[in-house]
Amino acid sequence: MKKIQIDNITIDPPIILAPLAGITSLGYRKLMKRFSVGLVVSEMISDFALIYNNKETFKMLETCAEERPLAIQLFGGSKESILKAVKILNEKANFDILDINLGCPVPKVVKDGAGSSWIKQERQEELYEMMKAVVETSIHPVTAKIRIGWNNKSINVIDTCKILEKSGVKMIAIHGRTREDFYQGNSDYMWIKRAKEAVSIPIIANGDIVTPEGAIDVLTYTKADGVMIGRGCLGNPELLQNIDKKLKGETYSDEVDINKQIEYCKEHYLNLIEVKGKYRATQEMRGLAPHYFKGYVNAKKYRAELAKIESYQDFIKIIENIKTQQ
Ligand SMILES: Cc1cc2nc3c(=O)[nH]c(=O)nc-3n(C[C@H](O)[C@H](O)[C@H](O)COP(=O)(O)O)c2cc1C
Repeated sequence: MKKIQIDNITIDPPIILAPLAGITSLGYRKLMKRFSVGLVVSEMISDFALIYNNKETFKMLETCAEERPLAIQLFGGSKESILKAVKILNEKANFDILDINLGCPVPKVVKDGAGSSWIKQERQEELYEMMKAVVETSIHPVTAKIRIGWNNKSINVIDTCKILEKSGVKMIAIHGRTREDFYQGNSDYMWIKRAKEAVSIPIIANGDIVTPEGAIDVLTYTKADGVMIGRGCLGNPELLQNIDKKLKGETYSDEVDINKQIEYCKEHYLNLIEVKGKYRATQEMRGLAPHYFKGYVNAKKYRAELAKIESYQDFIKIIENIKTQQ
């Protein structure tokens, strides 16, 4: 699989960790970077939060050398506010690629004209003007993440991709669902294949890739330039490495070793403590730790306990019990 070159930034392998709000913070990205990830993307960053100098949001821009290249993903509902935020990012943040979120389906985001609201058919001219201005203003190459349309009656992914290419966007990640699908049904790769045929810039296939075989099938069918994976690697960081190995024709094991899972989960927790402090890290790990322990003896019981941890010590006790039970 060919690496992707965007200006002076190399995405190698062309396997991208999808942005997941509340999850893809620096702590998680650092863990994942060990597993053949060509590009990591931040959680989505609000334009207004940057404009109003929100401290928490500025903390979300923190990075480190080992995770680079890094894409910062920005969302906003108007050209004016997005451009203000781009100027702030130019000045104050350290990253490699600026990604614009044109796919978020969440009602409170869409209601402000942000996320997938931008791909509505009636906003295509506005989308072009906004993205062109972003490309002109950003000191970093600009990419976009989209869905295939607003709903099944208005699938316009080909037009959207052409508009984005014309505006100067350097790469597009396509989640093969519409806004109205939210996360229901399956990602429709047929539209990703058609989009790839319609433009010359790199296209990244996204949605429901959870195995190395699945990744190869999607790449073979769509002829996309790379894959982006979100939920599939939660609790399964080796997935990305296995995809890379499969692409290179190397052997890998599908077996998920409990000791390795414990090590990865611990590392995830400790990374979060380092970045966010014990309290926030523990709150977040209640949602994340259970993902690492599926399919083991008494997994249901331990996952329920992990979802209620009060401290790192609680966590260590539970994983010691998991170890002795296997
Ligand atoms: C909890 C969660 C948070 C997400 N946050 C973002 C986000 O901040 N920006 C974005 O572009 N997409 C976001 N997405 C969408 C994912 O990046 C991805 O497009 C989607 O989950 C499909 O890919 P997957 O099946 O590999 O997870 C989010 C999805 C989930 C489930």
